[in-house]
Amino acid sequence: MTDGRCPVPHAAPAPHRLDPTGAGQHTVNERLRERGAAVPVLLPGGVAAYAITRHGELRDFVAHPDVAKDARHFAALRDGEIPPGWPLATFATVRGMTTADGADHRRLRSLVTRAFTPRRVEALRPAVEELTASLLDRLAQAAAAAPDGVADLRRHFALPLPMGVICRLLGVDPEHQDRLHALSNDIVGTRTAPERALAANREMLAVLGKVAAARLRSPGDDLISALIAAREENGDRLSEEELIGTLLLMIIAGHETTLNLITNAVRALCAHRDQLELVRAGEASWGDVVEETLRYDSPVSFFPFRYPTRDLPVGDTVIPQGCPVLVSYTSAGRDPRAHGADADRFDVTRPTRPDAARHLSFGHGAHYCLGAPLARLEATVALDALFTRYPGLDLAVPDEQLVPHPSFVGNSPQELPLRLGDPAPGPGPGPGSGPGSGAHSG
Ligand code: HEM
Ligand code: HEM
Repeated sequence: MTDGRCPVPHAAPAPHRLDPTGAGQHTVNERLRERGAAVPVLLPGGVAAYAITRHGELRDFVAHPDVAKDARHFAALRDGEIPPGWPLATFATVRGMTTADGADHRRLRSLVTRAFTPRRVEALRPAVEELTASLLDRLAQAAAAAPDGVADLRRHFALPLPMGVICRLLGVDPEHQDRLHALSNDIVGTRTAPERALAANREMLAVLGKVAAARLRSPGDDLISALIAAREENGDRLSEEELIGTLLLMIIAGHETTLNLITNAVRALCAHRDQLELVRAGEASWGDVVEETLRYDSPVSFFPFRYPTRDLPVGDTVIPQGCPVLVSYTSAGRDPRAHGADADRFDVTRPTRPDAARHLSFGHGAHYCLGAPLARLEATVALDALFTRYPGLDLAVPDEQLVPHPSFVGNSPQELPLRLGDPAPGPGPGPGSGPGSGAHSG
């Protein structure tokens, strides 16, 4: 079928057309997993690709020595067969650690790893808690101001949190934060016109250039200053362009992902109140909720791209050299081969199997998520604070009415409308949301 090329659009069996609306993600994944560990897919623009659907094969594939991320290995792109303005081109062509292999990848990543230490992440805890508390106030105010008492968790809480935290970590002055926030939304927003996304990208690079220049003049105890220092110690191993690119990557990669994780966890807990009770009874931790959410409803779905550097067997399929491959983290998380016959069940007490990591949702191998400790910190703090302050919090619409965010890269509903219920008595909410100021029972 392949004769050394990616599957052609009219080949039999027909390749699966990836749906940019993201509808019925888990049902579609189940069908794809049954078709095979590697299945031919068609991307927008008619570009042929493969998707890896099963846990074990995904883990082996992303760590395989004959699988690259550098777009020089993308045969159709190299041969000029990709339509101009192809919406997924940025994922392949953006320069930085996500599209680098081998020594180049190690160079780009090692400087960030050295600056982005567990100590630096843990030191952020008080700031994350403080920001979380003030965003809970904002959520309560939004609910109080709405005629139906309903507030969208994503807009008022889960979205501003990662951006606020990363700005704190990077040492971005508050004056630039709101702008970066709006620009980041424009860049990853699937409904953003291409020209606007491009303009947003350019402006973001300019703002980050200004931020880096300010830190160069007056270094602080922040990640940008640490990156600049690491760069100088190492004889300019990270160019100016690479420094700015790295900052952009930290913002882009940590934003929608953490937003989706918090959203998907709250959604799952509302739909499975018994699991919430296990946490309240001390039989499971917020950390368990986060790990189970990562498995059960991974924030990242089909992640683009990798390219085999030779014809590579995956399951019963041979993926031709140079074909773009997406790995489906949402599908791997529900693979019964790795997670058992009840893989579709949300179970916060699920034991980690000795033969399989609980999930691969932060990736695996050399490109394993650099932000995983930060994402875990943010999500556990956020969930704890949210359910402690609003024990009766619930979805304002039936779960099945939630509309997916239109994307096959991300996996989350577009909005998560909530009724907060009464705030818990006790040490209580932060300034501005006491019982007299509108914290509100839907
Ligand atoms: C719940 C939140 C997050 C999820 C689910 C997530 C998921 C992932 C995944 C799946 C990858 C690997 C992609 C691949 O090559 O297949 C990745 C890489 C990466 N993530 Fe995250 N991420 C999250 C949060 C963050 C945060 C908060 C940051 C930064 C502050 C971050 C920074 C990065 C970077 C820099 C890479 C690229 C690493 C490399 O190519 O070597 N991520 N992430
Ligand atoms: C929830 C999951 C994610 C969604 C919905 C998402 C969505 C997007 C979208 C729509 C774009 C814009 C593409 C364009 O400008 O043509 C983008 C760019 C990008 N994403 Fe993601 N992404 C996700 C996760 C990640 C992760 C885990 C990483 C880290 C490895 C990552 C790294 C990047 C990079 C490097 C760019 C290019 C930025 C630029 O220079 O414009 N993304 N993403």
